[in-house]
Amino acid sequence: MSTFSAPKGTYDLLPPDSAAVLAVREALAAPLRAAGYGYAETPGFEHVELFSRGVGESTDIVTKEMYTLTTKGGTRLALRPEGTASVLRATLQANLHRAGNLPVKLWYSGTYYRYERPQAGRYRHFSQIGAEAIGTEDPALDAELIILAADAYRSLGLTGVRLLLNSLGDRACRPAYRTALQDFLRGLDLDEETRARIEVNPLRVLDDKRESVRRQLAGAPAMRDHLCEACKEYHEQVRELLTDAGVAFTDDERLVRGLDYYTRTTFEFVHDGLGSQSAVGGGGRYDGLSEMLGGPPLPSVGWAIGVDRTLLALRAEGAAPAAAPATDVFAVPLGDRARRELFTVVTALRRAGVAADFGYGGRGVKSAMKSANRSGARFALVAGERDLADGVVQLKDLGSGEQTPVALPDVVEDLRRRLG
Ligand code: HAM
Repeated sequence: MSTFSAPKGTYDLLPPDSAAVLAVREALAAPLRAAGYGYAETPGFEHVELFSRGVGESTDIVTKEMYTLTTKGGTRLALRPEGTASVLRATLQANLHRAGNLPVKLWYSGTYYRYERPQAGRYRHFSQIGAEAIGTEDPALDAELIILAADAYRSLGLTGVRLLLNSLGDRACRPAYRTALQDFLRGLDLDEETRARIEVNPLRVLDDKRESVRRQLAGAPAMRDHLCEACKEYHEQVRELLTDAGVAFTDDERLVRGLDYYTRTTFEFVHDGLGSQSAVGGGGRYDGLSEMLGGPPLPSVGWAIGVDRTLLALRAEGAAPAAAPATDVFAVPLGDRARRELFTVVTALRRAGVAADFGYGGRGVKSAMKSANRSGARFALVAGERDLADGVVQLKDLGSGEQTPVALPDVVEDLRRRLG
C-alpha cells in the first residue's frame, strides 16, 4: 500500500481484468466501423457552456455532477460528462457537415466524469463507446444505430439486455404535452424540490424513482397520446424497421433520459442483473442540438454504451471474456551467456511476429519456470552453458512437458511453424 489510493468513485483497471475491458470495447466498436462510422477523439475537457447549453441547464449532470475548473487565464472548463455535445461541436468546428456527405457518422471511445454518488455500477470516472450520425433525419438511421448496439451486445454473448423505446416528440408537439403534464403534476402532493422541477423540466418528474411519487404518476398524460402526425409516423417506421431486423423492444412511455437534448426517438438498453444502475446504454435523436450550439439545423441521432456496466452485465451472466494469454514463448536463461543468446532470440521472435517474454532478473530456473507457466505461454525456451556449447536450446512444450533440443539458428523458424 502507498500513502495514496484512487479517488472515491474511481477504480484502476489492471491485468488480468483489463483484458476483458479491451475485449468489450473492441466488440462494441467493430460493428460501428463496419457500418461506415469513422473514429473521433475530442478533448477530455471543454468550455462549461458547451454542456450547460447542450445537455441542459436544469439537468442533474449540469447542476450537480459536472467537474468544473477555472484556468489561470480565467477560462471556465468542465471535464466532459458525456460525448455527444463534444462530437457535435467538433463536427461543426471542422465543417464536416459541409462536405456534402450527410450523415456524418462518427464513433468514439473515452472516459467521462460525473460527480455522482458512487455505488455498484455508478462511478465518477467511467468509460463509454459512443456513436453519432449527424445531419440526417431518417428513421432508418435511428434503426441502424439501435440494431448495431443490439448486435454488439449479442456478439459479446449477452442474452439479458432489453431495449426500451419511446418517442419524446418534437418542437411541434412537445410544448402542448409539456403544458398538459405540468397541469397534471401541479395537482399532486409533491415536495418543494419536485414542485420546482415541474416548472423547469416536468418530463424529469416522470423519471422519479420514489414509490410515493410513482404511485401518483399512474394517471399522468403520456407523450404517445400527444405526438403530432409527423412524429407518430416517424416513430412507427423506426418500430417497423426494428421488428424487420428481429430486434425486440418494449414501448416505454415513461422513458425520459437524463439529458435535455432529445427529440423523437429515445431508447435505453437495460440489464436486469445490475441492480438499480441497470442502464447499459442509451441514446436517441437530438434534432435541435446543433442550433442550440450555434450551428445550422442538423437533425442527428446517437447512443453511448457504458463499458463498465456492459462488463458487469457480462459478469452477472458468467460470460465475461477471459484474458487471452499474451505470450506464446517464454525464455528461461541459465547463466550470463544464455542471457545474451536468449535475449537475442526473444528479440528475433518478436520481430518475426511471435509474442515472447523473458525471465528477467537472473533468477534461478525454478522461479523462472514458474513465471513461464504463469505467463500462459505454450513453449518455454531453456538454455544453459552446456546447451549453448552444443549449439542448441531446449524447447519445452509447457502443456505436455515434452522437451526437444533445437539448433540455435533454427529456433525462430521452428517456433513459427509450431505456433502456426
Ligand atoms: P447516458 O445515458 O448519460 O447517455 O450514458 C450512456 C451510458 O453510460 C449509460 O447507459 C451507462 O451505461 C453509462 N454511464 C452513465 N453514467 C455512468 C456512471 N456514472 N457510471 C458508470 N456508467 C455510466 C449519454 O451519455 C449520451 N451522450 C448518449 C447519447 C449519444 N445520446 C445521443 N448520442
